[in-house]
Amino acid sequence: MPARILNNHDLEKIVDTSDEWITSRTGIKERRIAAEGENTSDLAAAAARNAMTMAGITATDLDLIIVATVTPDMFFPSTACIVQKKIGAKNAVCFDISAACSGFLFALQTARHFLNGGPRKTALVIGAEKLSALINWKDRNTCVLFGDGAGAVVLRAGEKDGKSHRVLSSVMGSDGNLADLLRVPGGGTAMPVTPENVGSRPNTIHMEGRETFKHAVTRMSQACEEALAQASLTKEDVSLVIPHQANARIITAIADRLGVPHEKTFINVDKYGNTSAATIPVALDEAQRSGRIKKGDVLLLVAFGGGFTWASAVVQW
Ligand code: ACO
Repeated sequence: MPARILNNHDLEKIVDTSDEWITSRTGIKERRIAAEGENTSDLAAAAARNAMTMAGITATDLDLIIVATVTPDMFFPSTACIVQKKIGAKNAVCFDISAACSGFLFALQTARHFLNGGPRKTALVIGAEKLSALINWKDRNTCVLFGDGAGAVVLRAGEKDGKSHRVLSSVMGSDGNLADLLRVPGGGTAMPVTPENVGSRPNTIHMEGRETFKHAVTRMSQACEEALAQASLTKEDVSLVIPHQANARIITAIADRLGVPHEKTFINVDKYGNTSAATIPVALDEAQRSGRIKKGDVLLLVAFGGGFTWASAVVQW
């Protein structure tokens, strides 16, 4: 995570909001903001190095790098190619995936297909965002919610020895009919930023918060049930739910729908806010390093984001 912390009291000085409102509506207390010149690829490369160290591999072992992001350094080259250069992964094929907050799980599933069906054996899957670059700091509806960060995992093919971590099942879905509810409308080819429209900040996040909330709860709950059914498991088998971190109330609502005790859900949205594609790998890393998950545990990962998109995965740790 970037070093700079922006807490709710700092935001009180920028927009008409309060620590009490933000905490009670979202559970967020603070978020990280990347430094000037610290790009999505820098956060991604740092996460990649940590993941490779943990996995005991070097960059030249990588056959594939997928970066899930909606805040790429630039339109092209892909952020994955920039990360490849930064970490020296000269043998990897590299590309980005755009699925907003579901991006990491979309990338995980894409990497699984590569590893199951081809010659590639070792993949690096990264969720990385610099959402502070897409925030309208005058819009209290959105600026309090988001932050910057990155997380990464290394996946390997063909180790079905019962000792390795395994992705047991995965569910993905999209509904483009609801694309307008959460988007960055400008800055792309449909609406370039011009001197005439720059004042209305089209290249920042626009969101219908209440509608997004409802769809998020419904879709993530369904995706959890589908992934468990696909893995022939029940909620009782789940050791820990690691949900996308957008809002603590969304997480609680999903746990209640699923009938999973709240203490079996991982929450760190209080420290980082919503870092989109980065939330799940960052949470996974914190859960692992803090001893919250142990070998053999069944993890249920689930996300929802702009598109709309949603995804879930059951992982045996
Ligand atoms: N500070 C103070 N007041 C605020 C703020 C703020 N930062 N933001 C909005 N308000 C006001 C609104 O203007 C409104 O005032 P009004 O009643 O006078 O019009 C009032 O608070 C209530 O607004 P609501 O939108 O009804 O508040 P709600 O309880 O729905 O909470 C929130 C808003 C937190 C955005 C919630 O809808 C939410 O979390 N939605 C999900 C959005 C999300 O997480 N998006 C991220 C991407 S998708 C994903 O990751 C799941």
